Formats: sequence, C-alpha cells, structure tokens
Amino acid sequence: MAEERGHFGSKLGVILASAGSAVGLGNIWRFPTEVGKNGGAAFILIYLLFVLLLAMPVMIGEFVIGRHSRANTVSAYQKLAPRTPWVVAGLMGVLSGVLILSFYSVVAGWTIDYSMLSLTGQLSGDYDFGAIFGSFVSHPTRPIIFLVLFLLVTHVIVARGIETGIEKFSKLMMPMLLMIIVLLVVLSVTMPGASEGLSFLLQPDFSKVTAPVVFSAMGQAFFSLSVGIGCLVTYASYFNQDTKLVSSAFNVCIIDTMVAILAGFIVFPTVFSAGMRPDAGPGLVFVTLPYVFNEAFSAMPLLGDLFSILFYVLLLLAALTSSISMHEITTAYIKEHFKMSRERAAQIVTGICVVLGIFCSLSFGPWAEVKIFGMGFFDLFDFVTAKFFMPLGGILICLFVGWVMKKDVVREELTAGTTISPALFHFLLFLIRVAAPVFIAMVFLYELFGEKLLG
Ligand code: ALA
Repeated sequence: MAEERGHFGSKLGVILASAGSAVGLGNIWRFPTEVGKNGGAAFILIYLLFVLLLAMPVMIGEFVIGRHSRANTVSAYQKLAPRTPWVVAGLMGVLSGVLILSFYSVVAGWTIDYSMLSLTGQLSGDYDFGAIFGSFVSHPTRPIIFLVLFLLVTHVIVARGIETGIEKFSKLMMPMLLMIIVLLVVLSVTMPGASEGLSFLLQPDFSKVTAPVVFSAMGQAFFSLSVGIGCLVTYASYFNQDTKLVSSAFNVCIIDTMVAILAGFIVFPTVFSAGMRPDAGPGLVFVTLPYVFNEAFSAMPLLGDLFSILFYVLLLLAALTSSISMHEITTAYIKEHFKMSRERAAQIVTGICVVLGIFCSLSFGPWAEVKIFGMGFFDLFDFVTAKFFMPLGGILICLFVGWVMKKDVVREELTAGTTISPALFHFLLFLIRVAAPVFIAMVFLYELFGEKLLG
C-alpha cells in the first residue's frame, strides 16, 4: 500500500518541528550536567564554536540530502548514489535512531515519574533524594512502566503523520516549552544568591579546558542538534521546495542553543543559591535539584512545588519533541522500504524500542552486572551513538554533500526560495567539504584511540 509521503504545512511548522527535534533532554538534562562538570562558561564558548562551525554545516548537509531526495534516510542515498556503499550511512542512521530512542525513553520515563512525584507533593520534604532516585531507577518494573508510557505517547504522535501528528504537536509543545523556560528563568535568577551561579555560567575559566572537555563539547553539540543520524534528512524530505535551508538551520541552531543556555540559567543560580555543587553529573536534575527546590524555597514551599512541577514537565515536553523525530527516522524507512502503512511501521519501531528500552532500564537494576565491552546496555547505547555513529555519520554526510553530490545541485538547494551571496556559499561549501569532516575526524579518532596513542 503506497501512502502519500506527507509534508510540513508551514514554515513555522518546519522550524518548530526541527527545533523540537533538537531541543530535548540534551539541552535541559545533559547540557547543564556537561557545563557543571567541565568548568562553566569556557565549555559554553567552545560548544558555541562547534555548533556554528561543525554541527550547523552537518545540519545543512542533512537538509540538502533530505530535500533533494524526498526520501527516508536510507532511500535518500540509494536514490542519489545508486548501487554504492553510501547506503550504509543511511542504515547507520536508522540503527542510531532506534538505539538513541531506546535509552532516551528511559530518562524520559524518569521525567514522567518525577513530574508526578512533584505534582503530588512527594518531592517536597526532608528526604534523601539520592536514595529515592537510586531505588526508583533500579526498581525492576516501575521505570519500565514509565518508559513504555512515554514510547506509546511518542508512537501516537508519529502514527498520525507529518502534518497532523509531528507538525501539529511540535507547534503546540514548543511554545509551551518556551513559556515554561522563560518563567523558570525569571524565578531562578531572582533568587537570593543566584549571582554566583550566573558568574559560573558567564565567566570563562580556561584553565579547566582540557582535550576531553573539547571532545565533550563536540559530542554535546552533535547530540543536542540531533545531527549525524539522518533525523534531519528525514524531516527535510518533508520540507517544501521554498523552505530556506540555510536560514532554517541557523534558526534551529539559535533556538537550540538559547534553550540550552536558558536551562543553565535555570539550573545554576538555583543550585548555587542553595549552596550545592554544580558538578553532580547526570544526577544533577534528579538528585540535586529536588534538594535545591526544598532548600531554596523553604520559606515558600508552594513556589518550590510549582518550580519543581514546571521543571519536570519542561523536561518531559522537550524529550517528546525529540523522541518523535528519532522515531520518525525508522518509521519512514520501514514504511517506504517495506511499503507498509505508517501505523504498522510505527508499531514495529515502538515494539523494538520497548524491548531495547527495557534492556537499558534493567541495566540500572537487575541487570547491573550484565556488561558488553564493560558497559551496561544504557551506557553502551549512549556510547555507541554519541561517540561513534553521530560523528561518523556527520563525516559521511559532509563528504557526501561536499564531494558526491553535484555542486550545482547543492547550490540550487541552498539558494531555493532565497539568495545567498557567493562568498557565503563558498564558505559553507568549505565547511562542509573540508573543515567539518577533517575536524570531526580528528576528534573522533582521538576519542577512540587518543589515550592509547598518547599513552
Ligand atoms: N537532540 C536531542 C536532545 O537534545 C536528542 O535531546
């Protein structure tokens, strides 16, 4: 059965859906965690550089491949370079989408639980939040229920299609998310003692910048913008011919970066105001913040509850706008490749992610001892995608657009619906052809072999 491919109905829809794909747990959970661990403002500056010079060119490359081929990420390579090994880049994207969605849903499931705990007042009180978090994530069934719930919601949105599912929900969720962020920033920066957190965010300490910090910044830029795995190839295949690719990519990068920095403005002033440490790692938002909400708002517990509810709902909305884009990579592929209905294809993806998500969730509890290459499923999926598939995918996308696709085709795509100066075109082409792949390759190789090579 050949269903219509679908397309985004408006320019706003394109921006909000693509920004929704980018804005996620990466911005609100991972970014403050990385900033906290890696020295604050100095990390942010390096991150910004990577967003502009590496991740944005890859994003533009994905847009070019997707819009020109009007196909899912695997068929895109088959159409543009038939009977060549390039198809592997597409297949790697499909695999990454499934793996990321599987471990992502575990954390998203935690946010559902924490939203409910804060809604029912169970996060306000003198509790041991480290122990609460530890016993929740290691519970054999409870986190699984929430991860399945999260995947079902993702499924329902994706199964409805592009315009009436993904676009409609992104248009609804993104403005809500932005409103919640602004409200939380206002609450956070007006707290007593917030200035210490603000200076942590705004004053760079370059003495903290080491090679691993630089690599983390690149990994974070790729993860946060969802680039390198064909997610944006898939979305761009639903763009209209007059969608401006360069300015859309720029807008998505601006929105994503703004949300990440605003998340920093929410987390750090609150953390410092309550006298806590900013480098608690992944537990920052699930362990440190509940203490902070209690401590900082001890004189106004209701405000603390409000802050806490809004924060976890924010995380949840952000996770959902990204998870639908991860789901769509594989749904589009299965639907088009195996000529299935969207509903059926989405069911298969949801089913696979439920199973793999359960593996990831169990790695915090009953399967804590099950290790592959020394890692549990959650860490393994995170490692393989963020450290391996995303950078490798980024390199392949740049090389494909820069060296395999015809220059005139790339120019046509980049100038459709707009004009860009020859200087800008050549600068972008240089980034896509040379600068981005070379630099990503250097970081990638160092990450994999650097410690061995340098002893
Ligand atoms: N880009 C998504 C995020 O930041 C995966 O969470």
